[in-house]
Amino acid sequence: MSDNGMIPHTIKPYLSKEKITKRVEQMAGELASAYIGLEDKTLFLVVLKGAFVFAADLLRSFPLNVRVEFCRAASYGTGMESSGEVRLDLPPEEVIAGRYCVIVEDIIDTGLTLDALINELLRMRARKVEVCALLSKPSRRKVDVPLNYIGFEVPDLFFVGYGIDYAERYRNLDHLAVVVPRDGGDPEKRDAKED
Ligand code: IMP
Ligand code: MG
Repeated sequence: MSDNGMIPHTIKPYLSKEKITKRVEQMAGELASAYIGLEDKTLFLVVLKGAFVFAADLLRSFPLNVRVEFCRAASYGTGMESSGEVRLDLPPEEVIAGRYCVIVEDIIDTGLTLDALINELLRMRARKVEVCALLSKPSRRKVDVPLNYIGFEVPDLFFVGYGIDYAERYRNLDHLAVVVPRDGGDPEKRDAKED
């Protein structure tokens, strides 16, 4: 088997399962206070693949009966930067139009993927778009994006686990870890940032 494009590395625990659970439950409570009474018009849009574990925990702590849909968003870039060219695969316009959309994302890095997604949802006549992300790396931001619900603000490191991958590995970890290169390389040096 090939190394799947990974550089030699180790992983180091960053946030425990218990700390994540506590924060995700708080976020579900904050969202419930904001969306109570709007259940019929609200859509949670989970960005695959990275947000799948976060969304599963968030939604099971969320008491309101809302619609849940999934989408794909992948930004292409060279090396460490995403180019802003984003490929989106969204539910049809009739599902988006007129609804309060809550984007459920894993990590907001440059913000380029999220910016493209928000613009497309508004073009599809979403009534309002809010963002709920597990992690945000503010120091990496290239475009100003509205973040309504943030789990943790994190430094410019490469995270894995709890649904988030490095070259399609480590999604199954029940906690968050950081990738530590063995040779000083950068784990983000790959051509496509897939969710
Ligand atoms: P952005 O367009 O630069 O904000 O890209 C965000 C996307 O890049 C995230 O949804 C992830 O899929 C990926 N990404 C950014 N940082 C990391 C990381 O630390 N680990 C794994 N994927 C990441
Ligand atoms: Mg993502």
